Amino acid sequence: MSVVYKNQMLDGEVIDFTHEGHGVVKIDAYPIFIPQTLIGEQIQYKVIKVKKNFAIGKLIEIQKESADRELPPCVYYEKCGGCQLQHLSYEAQLEMKRNQVMNLFHRKGKMSHVPVHPTVGMVQPWFYRNKSQIPVGGKRGAIEMGYYRQRSHAIINMDKCMIQYQAQNDIMTTIRDLLNQYDIPPYHELKHTGLVRHVVIRKGYYSDEIMIIFVLNGDTLPYQEEISHALTGAFPQIKSIKINSNKEKSNVIMGERSQTIFGEATIEDTLGDLKFKINDKSFYQINVLQTQKLYDIAVKYAGLTGQETVIDAYCGIGTIALSMANKARHVYGVEVVPEAIQDAKRNAELNEFHNTTFVSGPAETVILDWQKQGIRPDVVTVDPPRKGCDVTFIETLNQLEPEKIVYISCNPSTQLRDIQLLLDKYDLKEVTPVDMFPHTTHVETVALMTRKKH
Ligand SMILES: C[S@@+](CC[C@H](N)C(=O)[O-])C[C@H]1O[C@@H](n2cnc3c(N)ncnc32)[C@H](O)[C@@H]1O
Repeated sequence: MSVVYKNQMLDGEVIDFTHEGHGVVKIDAYPIFIPQTLIGEQIQYKVIKVKKNFAIGKLIEIQKESADRELPPCVYYEKCGGCQLQHLSYEAQLEMKRNQVMNLFHRKGKMSHVPVHPTVGMVQPWFYRNKSQIPVGGKRGAIEMGYYRQRSHAIINMDKCMIQYQAQNDIMTTIRDLLNQYDIPPYHELKHTGLVRHVVIRKGYYSDEIMIIFVLNGDTLPYQEEISHALTGAFPQIKSIKINSNKEKSNVIMGERSQTIFGEATIEDTLGDLKFKINDKSFYQINVLQTQKLYDIAVKYAGLTGQETVIDAYCGIGTIALSMANKARHVYGVEVVPEAIQDAKRNAELNEFHNTTFVSGPAETVILDWQKQGIRPDVVTVDPPRKGCDVTFIETLNQLEPEKIVYISCNPSTQLRDIQLLLDKYDLKEVTPVDMFPHTTHVETVALMTRKKH
């Protein structure tokens, strides 16, 4: 017999908080996960799903409130799957993220001697995203644009998202009006019919330059001249409008092929003293103010004197590589997306660096080539996607034996896994969490490893 049953109403105290931002009530050792509740709260909840090892509950009433609870300012918060922590004060969010990283490295990784510093937070933790990927749905003439409901692909028709720039909100509502005005069919995900799947908007924080990408289940946008004209008239900061064709039945947002229908192929932004050109396919950190802090820590950890050979693995458009280029002898960057490497090369020229080499390909293969060519790095920076590094890459890193490894990650679990494979030769010195994604459960970390002295 189960510990609880579906639709059961229960009272309980929240005693823990998961990485997904859900409160946990336990009956004996059986956990019930309840979204939008906080540690220490006494609550009434309804059991909505029962599994063998856990149940999911829905908050009905808070009988005793946590001192860390705040009123979420976003009107869509309770439904939307975009943010999970708006009901928790920002200070408590930063503490929670640090605890999450400490739990991982200290308890799971058994490295309690390694300092995990306080999470580096934002002064104004709202309207920070420079990139929005907005799903388009609804019907012809009644287009819906906004983010998905929690655990669903049902679109919430929104006027405003409080974590993307306000310009993105204004463009989102204008595009919805234009798609309605020109009677353009939205994409229907289940039937795989219709045309407009997503609208992607990127904006330079300092430059204000804007790129809009219409992701289509097709190759052409009807009335593209009129739509571009209306958009650029209303938002003169728009420097690029593109069409990206994605005719696949898949959750991947962008397809392979893009064409520019207005303006330039790239937009520009600045990070510190450096200028960067950004393509539609290239990865660019979404929170510019926090990226500057993240890179400052990475540069400090690298401790460059001007003599070093540096490898920046998973380099994107070369942002970390170029942040280090004026402090190193030579910097090599590797990245799997060819368009991003084109941007990285152009960015090196734009910033007048002549001591950089950028190569397109998988880091795990290119690093082997570099090893064969006799390149011996003093410092390697690593910034992989959420799944972490390929084992071959880590093995090669172990053989190359750089003095320092600076590992940046948006997924501390895979970061810990990779770091553990380096511990025979390296000491993990310190870890700093940086809050790149306020009000969500995501946390970015930067870790310094130094080679053990023989
Ligand atoms: C988290 S981003 C970091 C980009 C860059 N360092 C920055 O700060 O903007 C990870 C990058 O790794 C790239 N990537 C993914 N798998 C890769 C692989 N096997 N080899 C090289 N690059 C890869 C992605 O295209 C993406 O640009």
